[in-house]
Amino acid sequence: MFVSKNLDVNELGHLTIGGMDTMQLAKEYQTPVYITDENLIRKNCRELKDSVDMYYNGRGLMCYASKAFCCKAMYRIIMEEGLGTDVVSAGELYTALSVGFPMDKVYFHGNNKTESELVMALENNVGRIVVDNIYELNMLNSLAVKYGKTVCILLRIKPGVDAHTHDFVRTGKIDSKFGFALETGEAFEAVKSAVKMPGIKLSGLHCHIGSQILDTAPFMEAAKIMTGFNIKIKNELGYEIDELNMGGGFGIKYTEEDNPPALGMFIRDVSETVQKLCTDNNIKLPFLVFEPGRSIVGSAGITLYTAGAVKEIPGIRTYVSVDGGMSDNPRYSLYKSKYSIIAANKANMKKTEVITLAGRICETDLLGENMPVQPVEAGDIIAVLATGAFNHSMASNYNKLPVPPVVMVRDGSARVVVKRQTFEDMLVNDIG
Ligand code: LLP
Repeated sequence: MFVSKNLDVNELGHLTIGGMDTMQLAKEYQTPVYITDENLIRKNCRELKDSVDMYYNGRGLMCYASKAFCCKAMYRIIMEEGLGTDVVSAGELYTALSVGFPMDKVYFHGNNKTESELVMALENNVGRIVVDNIYELNMLNSLAVKYGKTVCILLRIKPGVDAHTHDFVRTGKIDSKFGFALETGEAFEAVKSAVKMPGIKLSGLHCHIGSQILDTAPFMEAAKIMTGFNIKIKNELGYEIDELNMGGGFGIKYTEEDNPPALGMFIRDVSETVQKLCTDNNIKLPFLVFEPGRSIVGSAGITLYTAGAVKEIPGIRTYVSVDGGMSDNPRYSLYKSKYSIIAANKANMKKTEVITLAGRICETDLLGENMPVQPVEAGDIIAVLATGAFNHSMASNYNKLPVPPVVMVRDGSARVVVKRQTFEDMLVNDIG
């Protein structure tokens, strides 16, 4: 009935998350509010980590791509679960540092890191810097020499795999701003340069082919191509790569139409592909790293809104407007991402209506169209499901709407992990 297993309906007919009544949560924390289920986040972490143990004999590291949902509490959970993390800016790195995240398990990404970000990474002994381009490689080498360090890097490679997902989140093809191209020889030239640089230790290769990918085939394809490149490097340069980072991108269930494989299947299929090719070609098995974001936090989260105006345009559609919008969830506006919704106070009723869910921003900010839902009226609490990834992290103050709080539920209790912004918070950087 629900896209996530942690959702249910209680005896009052209310939607529950992690066993807690969403109507109670809406009353206590007000709407709009992001609710996220800590137990499900931890379960996902364990499932992914255990899969590396099971399918790759534990010779790897599961990381969390913190851009999906970044706050102190989240880094603490990831740290407690023994995962590493992917950061993509000084801001994410700063947040990780603020909770004492082990820096040796941090991968620093980005296609245009600034000099000061690289210096920050060096000063804090970030485990790996994932270098995107020659400009960065040269800059990092000079900085490392200046600081008297040898910095471990991965080179980000575009394996040329076309994952079937939205154009904006498809990153493995040659026409992408990220990484070095294989086809043109650019990647091989970068390897040749990197291995000669005094400040650089080339630890390995990285690729990330895209996001919300719903089958394992493109990952296996990418694993083949990346391992093939490893083989070429060994054969032609006599250099052995220690580490292969296959990125993230594992898809989740947003609507009934989505049928993602179990998380472990992504790890299994990639691990088997890499092991077979390495054995067949007599090269050493690389330390294998993954960095999923969405599949760790996405299904764990929901957003609760209060319905206001219901506007029926006969023969056209019914708009139900809520007290949030593209400011707390820009994903429909950006990618036409589909979500499932439910009237949380009527969760035991049938979905007999089809509506367009509109935000309250002063433009046509929709949260979804053609959405089946129970009969809705003003005052109902509308839950948008599977909003745990890239909703809070992409929120803005457009129309000067404060960013909603994040409430984490666990074992029958709830705690605020990110406070609701106040009007004063929004003015904190305004100078008279
Ligand atoms: N590694 C790298 C280098 C990435 O760029 C990303 C996501 C990930 C890992 C994690 O991918 P995931 O497992 O979360 O799919 N804002 C978009 C998604 C952008 C993804 C950006 N990179 C959305 O809301 O769908």
